[in-house]
Amino acid sequence: MDDLRDKYLTAIANAGDEAALENLRVQAVGKKGEISLKMRELGKMTPEERQVMGPKLNALKDEINSALSAKKQGLGDAALDERLRGEWLDVTLPGRSRRNGTIHPVSQVSEEVTAIFADMGFAVAEGPQVESDWHNFDALNIPGHHPARAEMDTFYMHRDADDTRPPHVLRTHTSPVQIRSMELQGAPLRVICPGRVYRADYDQTHTPMFHQVEGLAVDKDISMANLKWVLEEFVKAYFEVDGVDLRFRASHFPFTEPSAEVDIRCSWEGGTLKVGEGDDWLEILGSGMVHPKVLMAGNIDPAAWQGFAFGMGIDRIAMLKYGIPDLRAFFDSDLRWLRHYGFSALDVPTVRGGLSR
Ligand code: PHE
Repeated sequence: MDDLRDKYLTAIANAGDEAALENLRVQAVGKKGEISLKMRELGKMTPEERQVMGPKLNALKDEINSALSAKKQGLGDAALDERLRGEWLDVTLPGRSRRNGTIHPVSQVSEEVTAIFADMGFAVAEGPQVESDWHNFDALNIPGHHPARAEMDTFYMHRDADDTRPPHVLRTHTSPVQIRSMELQGAPLRVICPGRVYRADYDQTHTPMFHQVEGLAVDKDISMANLKWVLEEFVKAYFEVDGVDLRFRASHFPFTEPSAEVDIRCSWEGGTLKVGEGDDWLEILGSGMVHPKVLMAGNIDPAAWQGFAFGMGIDRIAMLKYGIPDLRAFFDSDLRWLRHYGFSALDVPTVRGGLSR
């Protein structure tokens, strides 16, 4: 009995896992276990022997059973400890934001521009990217023979050889949305139209698809002074500076008269661009008073109404504000670029809350 006791208590103490322990239980106190077999032998003993051996065997069985369950408990605790160590979590660590995606600078700047003009009473209007040749050109006082049609490097849609209608185009600017807005809403009118435009051109500052935002205000007694004020307010708000020098340079567009291109004062010291200081000028937009023929194309009476319009490159002002050197990288979808220049999805630009922060 002492041998049995030593054998099983040692084996139980050394059992490495619950399976080994279960084996020992079967060997010792299972139905055909060594101790159970010994207990069966009690029947063959004399009553005197039985009185001695019975309690001893029962005590041994109890001792082994409690050693088994103590060990089982111990192994279970150890397994739990092990698991807790593996799944350990430091709840006192600071939170880590998961920046899986970012807002593209073009989207960010479109939102910023929209917020600023919304504050001045401009609503957002949209038009199709595949545009009728009439909306893109004729209605804007660019007739068929006009050199502007060639200058714009237009992408034409396919027409069957026997189809004599003029082909649709990928809109070369957002100005056709001027016409669509006038047709739809009539005067008075205050809209901006951000969107994609297309021209067959490709180098460091040109991509075949890029973005513009058009502005159009039609009302009574509108003049160049209103245009100038609106653009100055915009540039100050957009570049988040108090004073910006703008230069209005006389220019020509078929759809505005008079026309002006607007340059912004800047410096290129040490290869980096600074807006608002220095001796250089950078063109950021085209603008002017809406040509009477354009108002008429939009079913608005030019004797009663005037308007101003402007068109600005969104990608270009994004490059200027955020110091992005190459336009082509905007559309490469390189994740490293997107992480570097992208914006947090939760920072929605507002005029009062801050545009870029
Ligand atoms: N549509 C012109 C362009 O793409 C810009 C412009 C818009 C100029 C409105 C004047 C008025 O270059």
